[in-house]
Amino acid sequence: MPDPHAHAHLSKTDLLARKNEEALLGGGQARIDAQHKKGKLTARERVDLLMDEGSFEEIGKFVMHRSKDFGLDKEHYLGDGVITGYGTVNGRLVYVFSQDFTVFGGSLSETHAEKIVKIMDLAMKNGAPVIGLNDSGGARIQEGVVSLGGYADIFYKNTLASGVVPQLSAIMGPCAGGAVYSPAITDFILMVEHTSYMFVTGPNVVKTVTHEEVTSEELGGASTHSAKSGVTHFSCANEVVAINHVKQLLSYMPQNCEETAPAQPYEASGDESRPVLDKLIPDNANQPYDMREVIEGIIDPNSFLEVHQNFAENIVVGFARLAGRSIGIVGNQPAVLAGVLDINASTKAARFVRFCDAFNIPLLVLEDVPGFLPGTDQEWRGIITNGAKLLYAFCEATVPRITVITRKAYGGAYDVMNSKHIGADMNYAWPTAEIAVMGAKGAAEIIFKREIAAADDPAAKLQEKVDEYQEKFATPYRAAHRGFVDEVILPSQTRQKLIRAFKMLENKVDTMPRKKHGNIPL
Ligand code: HXC
Repeated sequence: MPDPHAHAHLSKTDLLARKNEEALLGGGQARIDAQHKKGKLTARERVDLLMDEGSFEEIGKFVMHRSKDFGLDKEHYLGDGVITGYGTVNGRLVYVFSQDFTVFGGSLSETHAEKIVKIMDLAMKNGAPVIGLNDSGGARIQEGVVSLGGYADIFYKNTLASGVVPQLSAIMGPCAGGAVYSPAITDFILMVEHTSYMFVTGPNVVKTVTHEEVTSEELGGASTHSAKSGVTHFSCANEVVAINHVKQLLSYMPQNCEETAPAQPYEASGDESRPVLDKLIPDNANQPYDMREVIEGIIDPNSFLEVHQNFAENIVVGFARLAGRSIGIVGNQPAVLAGVLDINASTKAARFVRFCDAFNIPLLVLEDVPGFLPGTDQEWRGIITNGAKLLYAFCEATVPRITVITRKAYGGAYDVMNSKHIGADMNYAWPTAEIAVMGAKGAAEIIFKREIAAADDPAAKLQEKVDEYQEKFATPYRAAHRGFVDEVILPSQTRQKLIRAFKMLENKVDTMPRKKHGNIPL
């Protein structure tokens, strides 16, 4: 453990070299070995993996805590448990903080917090993303409220930075108690399977309060948060995968809210038609298909980065490239629960839409939705408020917005899923589109109830009325006659149409009415 007043005998340059060596060792070799034994990398190894080689510049390497209680006046480590600085990822500036578990378990002290806040301030002033690599036992227990204040300073900065610069949080170890709220405010969370966990209260407290027996992994591991709670957007097999994912994610984003995402070079192949899409929609409207196949059929090859892959799978969201340009995609997923909108699907998509809008990433909506999920569970848990989040998020979005209705667009869900009425710029429909208040059978049963009951053969009558409704409304043409749909297109033409339309919308300017801020139904 370094003594801050030692080394008085060294020359000035030797002193600097010695301090640099000390800082690199964090909490010491034994603790570094222990970290490796747990299958975890050290904070510095993570930074090295993330940054372009040789680009990292450290800030605050010699910072030490100022605590005196519980023997801390005799225990100092240069850097105080967090490595902070800036560098480049794929040639673009980013700021990073990486918590060092070998120093007091990566716990957050007043000075540790100050270092994080310092790089967040720089990031906001200079317009570049902040990457947090989290591995911490939480508040530095010996410091008490001073540490809690440090957390609050970070939460406050996270909130101020929200929508100004992208903020990504990779959880690579413990993240418990109030500490979870910093990642929660950031734009994307990535967790590493088996070595990271997040919870507000751990298994012991849970057992005392609710008498539930649960392991850390079950309570707050990567699989739990990627599939059950949706807290994490990505569950990564190991730390290397997680860091590569961070880099990939960044490639779809601009540096800040004033810029657009970098485009990749794109050579038009001449023929952008994709005949495979013409065969995708099953003849039977109740048969599922995988919306990911539609996505893959439209976008640049292998460019889809799915977000929240294991959560609310009845909606698919993610980033992709179209003719080299970054877009955000929201697609109903007919292969899961028929693509119905429920609470989780609505909040998942709403948050994604807001991210894309905040950072000027155009939105593509692929629609095949039978409506909102009925039932007491959904109603009592607030499908009204939560569905409204998605509606609000689309209404508020000023980025270029295009919808393609592939099949069903029923009821309120038609309005919600980026309809013309709530500000979509271009609305396309495939010939298989069915745009109606509800499915033909349900509709016929309600509006022809008496006629059907009075018929000699009610079943035949019902079928006749279903067919009639189907023919009139279960097509894209009523909507196209009104101009609610701009064009009915062949699936194979979709890619070409979208490339042109997004290009046409490239310089779109749209603003919201002047206000302090809206009041999204949280
Ligand atoms: C100071 C801490 C610490 C902490 C760990 N250490 N957490 N020091 N403050 N919060 C130190 C340990 O003393 C130990 O020091 C070293 O870090 C490694 O810890 P171990 O327990 O040996 O590691 P491990 O077995 O891997 O367990 C990790 C752990 C455990 C699960 C995180 O350390 C733990 O439960 N820590 C306390 C967590 C906690 O209750 N934090 C406060 C929560 S409240 P040595 O010298 O032996 O290497 C909170 C509120 C935030 O955070 C509120 C924000 C609003």
